[in-house]
Amino acid sequence: MITGSFDFAPLLRPGLPPAAAKWTGLPKYNFIGGNNDAHEVPVAGLIAAVTAVLAREGATLANYGLASGPLGYRPLREFLVAKLKRDAGITCGVDQILITSGSLQALDLVNGVLLAPGDTVLIEQETYQGALTRLARLGVKAVGLPLDRDGLRLDALAAALDELKRRNVRAKYIYTIPTVQNPTGTIMGEARRRELLALAQAHGVPIFEDDCYADLIWDGRRPPALHALSPQGDVIHIGSFSKSIAPALRVGYIVAPEDMIARLLALKIDAGSGALEQMALAEFCAAHFVEHVPRLAHALRAKLETMMEALAEQFGTAAEFDDPPGGIFLWIKLPDAVDTQKLAAAALAAGVAINPGPEWSTNKPYAKSRLRLCFASPTADEIRAGVATLADVCRREFGVPVRSANVAKS
Ligand SMILES: Cc1ncc(COP(=O)(O)O)c(C=O)c1O
Repeated sequence: MITGSFDFAPLLRPGLPPAAAKWTGLPKYNFIGGNNDAHEVPVAGLIAAVTAVLAREGATLANYGLASGPLGYRPLREFLVAKLKRDAGITCGVDQILITSGSLQALDLVNGVLLAPGDTVLIEQETYQGALTRLARLGVKAVGLPLDRDGLRLDALAAALDELKRRNVRAKYIYTIPTVQNPTGTIMGEARRRELLALAQAHGVPIFEDDCYADLIWDGRRPPALHALSPQGDVIHIGSFSKSIAPALRVGYIVAPEDMIARLLALKIDAGSGALEQMALAEFCAAHFVEHVPRLAHALRAKLETMMEALAEQFGTAAEFDDPPGGIFLWIKLPDAVDTQKLAAAALAAGVAINPGPEWSTNKPYAKSRLRLCFASPTADEIRAGVATLADVCRREFGVPVRSANVAKS
């Protein structure tokens, strides 16, 4: 253990974010983050895959980038070319895919190529916190646009694009999570996707499509990706293996035209993403992805049902939510009196971690009484007990729900 007392504080560069809090272990009831179901990680399949691929190609680890060059392990890109065609209708080649260290690195690279302080981007009003914090840190103005049950509202987008045009501002991109939106869970239908593209093209604004959750749809049916519907090369598409296989592997990807890939690659100065996880994924997914994903989705759907039942039992009509068509999150509205940031702090003290709505929205007052719960990583028993504890804390702090499990509480 280092016990010295050298003071780095005067040396730190200005503008750093606050220091990270020390990790104190997982909360007892963990409903935060995008964690996966531990029982559904295909451990045996990954062991077999990594053993086979290392026995066959292990010597290539001697080279940065293996024998595949800087875009990432070629068999993984070949798997993606076929998968994206089959599932999302995307036509691309291996040279239009860049493997990244999670899709968070994809977000950083795309932002790094396109954004400068003072720029404007258009995003969904409720959106991924990781996207919001990055934009804030870059000094970029993020204009939030409301969603409905079909995703991003195009009347709001049209109005925002017109307003920017009037002010002579060209937005750098429209960031959307069209296929199982985070946090709302909506899937944008094909007709709206086509309208969105037409609108964006009319204003010369590219689309940044984040398809992080697109594999996790209960009935396995999804509209074509925005990338697939635009032949113009104006859609940058990113995806991830975090939700379909495991987030700790840290493997994501970007699909973009080759000149854009060359720009992104020039910023990817890490000498390549982790090779072993790329090799294991390529080997595992080529043989097992198509059977693994529906099994995972089935398990997640069962957990979602447990969570919806627990909420109905504990919160009754005080918790409003739509039954999402896929994903790992429920986006919940509590009565207006509830401030979910205060609720989150009180719940954490009782061992329940929740994501308060304002952290996932550009509209803080709208999101004040909303929250996001991840149902993928807790067990069914933890979901039931955690939701019951959350209801107790909420009643103590805000007086709602008045009743739980049909029992009036004093
Ligand atoms: C919408 C969205 N995009 C990107 C990410 C980043 O995921 P990863 O870096 O694990 O691929 C997440 C993680 O939860 C997400 O929800």
